[in-house]
Amino acid sequence: MTDVWSQRADAFRESPTHREGPDLDLLVEWCEPGPEVKVLDVATGGGHVARRLREQGCTVVTVDPAPGMKADVVAPADHLPFEDGSFDVVTCRIAAHHFPDIAAAVKEMARVSNRLLVIEDNVFRGERVEEAERLRDPTHVRCYSEDEWKDVVTDAGFEVEQIEHFDRRQSVDAWLERVETPPDAAARVRELLADDIDDEGMVGLRSILLKARRSQR
Ligand SMILES: C[S@@+](CC[C@H](N)C(=O)[O-])C[C@H]1O[C@@H](n2cnc3c(N)ncnc32)[C@H](O)[C@@H]1O
Repeated sequence: MTDVWSQRADAFRESPTHREGPDLDLLVEWCEPGPEVKVLDVATGGGHVARRLREQGCTVVTVDPAPGMKADVVAPADHLPFEDGSFDVVTCRIAAHHFPDIAAAVKEMARVSNRLLVIEDNVFRGERVEEAERLRDPTHVRCYSEDEWKDVVTDAGFEVEQIEHFDRRQSVDAWLERVETPPDAAARVRELLADDIDDEGMVGLRSILLKARRSQR
């Protein structure tokens, strides 16, 4: 899986959906950024969260298991090589649906955060969409509902303060090409998502952004 992601590194660096957007703007704001703030960006991919937070004066360490993403540290979300409470804020944007054990990953992110967790991911929209996501990209594990997110974050010792949802539309062609979905699988994905694809070939995606504060140590 790590090699697959390394091969995709340029595509995710260039992807407009990842590079910018109102979701990224709000995520940065919810980090309460500033020169004294130390952030860990988990599953950094093309490094867009890190870039934006550095522009705000934060000290940011990036981590990703795929060497090709050129993060500061190569590691998966559920084994972060940092001491407890090493960071003020831990971020993780549009990646958790690839994690094999979401509870373990959130516990680990919570362990190394002293103050905030700011997480965004695609939200669960039903089994038909899940099937399409897995066909599009076999590294897809699962998306979670708002209630599931609240439970997993609360179980990790953090209190959810704010939640926002984002609807965005993007070209279904670009979405499939970014992960090089084979033609047969791509055709089935288009069938499964037919109701969500408009006349201009745009598909709807929905994400949840969540800000949570440490409630116990
Ligand atoms: C869609 S990209 C992340 C996008 C990026 N956070 C952004 O805002 O543009 C997904 C990333 O998750 C990483 N990833 C996959 N499995 C992972 C795991 N188990 N733990 C941490 N990161 C993982 C991949 O290497 C990839 O860089």
